[in-house]
Amino acid sequence: MNSPQKIVVVGATSAIAHQCSRLWAQQGPCDFLLVGRSAERAEILAADLRARSAHVTARVAELRFDDVDAIAELVQGATATGPVDTVLIAHGSLPDQAICQDNLHAAQDALRVNGLSPALIAEAFIGPMQRAGRGRLCIIGSVAGDRGRKSNYIYGAAKGLVDRYVQGLQHRLALAKSPVRVTLAKPGPTDTPMTAHLKQSGAKLASSEAVAQRIVKAMAAGRPIVYAPGKWALIMLVIRHLPRFLFNKVDI
Ligand SMILES: NC(=O)c1ccc[n+]([C@@H]2O[C@H](COP(=O)([O-])OP(=O)(O)OC[C@H]3O[C@@H](n4cnc5c(N)ncnc54)[C@H](OP(=O)(O)O)[C@@H]3O)[C@@H](O)[C@H]2O)c1
Repeated sequence: MNSPQKIVVVGATSAIAHQCSRLWAQQGPCDFLLVGRSAERAEILAADLRARSAHVTARVAELRFDDVDAIAELVQGATATGPVDTVLIAHGSLPDQAICQDNLHAAQDALRVNGLSPALIAEAFIGPMQRAGRGRLCIIGSVAGDRGRKSNYIYGAAKGLVDRYVQGLQHRLALAKSPVRVTLAKPGPTDTPMTAHLKQSGAKLASSEAVAQRIVKAMAAGRPIVYAPGKWALIMLVIRHLPRFLFNKVDI
C-alpha cells in the first residue's frame, strides 16, 4: 500500500474544507492534521473522516489564527516528522459590510481573519515545503477579491490581499524552479453555514461538494487559480474589466 498522504487542513471545520478532506480520504491513505479554533469541533470532523476509511488517520490541533508565534509552532509541529504533501487554508468569515463601515473593530476582525491570517499561515508552511522540494498548498479566496464592490468591500479587500499574496508566492516559486505548487481557489456563492442567511433570502448557491471537487482537482493539477463553479471565471472577467464609469452605475 502507498504511504499515506500527509494533509494539513487549516479551518478544517469549513464545509468546503470538509468536502475536500472527504475527497482526499476517498483517494487513498491519508494522515490528516485538522486545525481549527476549537479542537472539539475539529474532532467531530476527524471522527467523520476516520469512520469513512480504515486507511485514514486524523489528529486535531487548536490554533489562535491571528497569533504568529502559535502559527510558527503549529507548522513546526506539523513538519517535525517529515514533509507535508498538501496544505489547505480554508478559514474565513463573511462580515456584515454595514457593520464594518460603522465599527472599526468589526472591520479589523474581518480583514485579519480573511486576509492577514491565511497569508501568514501560508507563508509559514511554504518555507518547509520549498526546502523539502515538494507539496501543494491552496488558499480559499473568493470572487469577492477580484473587484471591490459596495456590498462587501471589507471582505473583498481581505480576499484581494490573499490574491496578491498568492501571486507573489507563485512568482517566487517559479523563479526558484520549485516543484511546490500553490493554488488560489475563488468560489462564488456556495451553500455553507457562512451563507445560511443568503440561502434563506432565495440566493442561488453552488453545493460545497461541487466546489470542493474543483479545488481538489485543481490542486492535483497544480493549477494557479481555480474559480468554482467554473462560470465565475467568465463572470469575474467581465466584472474586472467593466469600465469605472459603467461599474459605478451598477448597484452590486
Ligand atoms: N460559502 C461561500 O459562499 C464562499 C464564497 C467564496 C469564498 N468562500 C470562502 O471559503 C472558505 C470556507 O468557507 P465556507 O463557505 O466553507 O464556510 P463555513 O462552513 O462557514 O466555514 C468557515 C470556517 O472559517 C472558520 N472561522 C470563521 N471565523 C473564524 C475566525 N474568526 N477565526 C478562525 N476561524 C474562523 C470556521 O471555524 P468554526 O467552525 O470554528 O466557526 C470555519 O472553519 C472561507 O475562506 C470563505 O471566505 C466561501
